[in-house]
Amino acid sequence: MAASTTTLTIEQARTAVEAAILAPSIHNSQPWRWRLDGDCLDLFADLTRAVPVVDPHRRQMVMSCGAALFNAWLTLRAAGLEVQVDELPDGTDLATDRLATLRVVGQCPPAQGDAELATAINRRHTDRRPFDQADLPDEVLHGLRRAAESEGCWLAPVVRTETRVELSVLLARADWVETHDPDYRAELMAWSRTDPNALDGVPRSAVVGSDEPRQSEFPLRDFDIVGEAGQRLRDPQVERPGVLVLGSDGDDTAAWLHAGRALGRLLLVATAAGLAASPLGQAIDVDATRALLREATGGIGQAQMILRVGYPDPAAPTLPQTPRRPACDLLEVVHHA
Ligand SMILES: Cc1cc2nc3c(=O)[nH]c(=O)nc-3n(C[C@H](O)[C@H](O)[C@H](O)COP(=O)(O)O)c2cc1C
Repeated sequence: MAASTTTLTIEQARTAVEAAILAPSIHNSQPWRWRLDGDCLDLFADLTRAVPVVDPHRRQMVMSCGAALFNAWLTLRAAGLEVQVDELPDGTDLATDRLATLRVVGQCPPAQGDAELATAINRRHTDRRPFDQADLPDEVLHGLRRAAESEGCWLAPVVRTETRVELSVLLARADWVETHDPDYRAELMAWSRTDPNALDGVPRSAVVGSDEPRQSEFPLRDFDIVGEAGQRLRDPQVERPGVLVLGSDGDDTAAWLHAGRALGRLLLVATAAGLAASPLGQAIDVDATRALLREATGGIGQAQMILRVGYPDPAAPTLPQTPRRPACDLLEVVHHA
């Protein structure tokens, strides 16, 4: 059989990186770099963009890169390219080693649904605003679970009242620990943006201010750290969002990369289903509450992300895009003589 003559063009690689950078990342730190070398698109972590207080083990950095990897892979597949994914081909030194390589090995029509899923990349946003009160239908939950499982992870909806109460307490405890840590506050402040021309970080338009009426069963990460604690007004309309724990069996760099891919895929599946979502990260940031969360959710596997999921308020305006650094600054092209 003749060898494949398919090549990855610079244009295709650029399109894939443009999609990759729209992925969610911890504090919108965008901790990735890309390199095009022949038919290979290599992904590296960018350690200069670490958030060491909230993410001392770089777990969330790798997850963010995993979500970007998923977007790049999906975009190449949606373009009809057959792509082989090599994860951690050099090892696990994040300073030097590739996190993954996407190698174009031929052409192959996209799987059913992949082209449609790729169209959700531009529409996905973290939505921290209050959700509608509607429950998540079972078939939607199954779709989200399948999305996590197809990337080697698991998804557990938190349904039992007892577990929801425990989770709410753990989030409140972790939130208290973090917001009383001056290093945490300084780091969050450093990634909070008021400049409309900023290329990274969390803009004011993406956060719900702590002085706005909001009552939820679960405390969201408070990006409005300039305000005083205890300012929030009490609103009797308590939001009861769907809450999902995304987890993996292992807890090493490979498992974090898979969890990031799973997060990327399931957020796109959620977007395509008309759902909105935002992470409830505090209970996993803090090692002690992460261990307690494991107990509360049955003691199996490693929780990698807690997601709040629901239908957006139909009257809510479309969220503006959070900023991104331009793809051209993040893609190095290797030229061979
Ligand atoms: C690993 C990871 C952890 C995150 N943790 C939180 C969190 O705890 N609270 C939150 O509100 N957003 C969290 N986010 C969402 C990011 O803040 C968001 O992706 C980023 O600001 C970019 O915005 P976008 O998702 O709307 O594109 C997290 C995202 C990732 C990938």
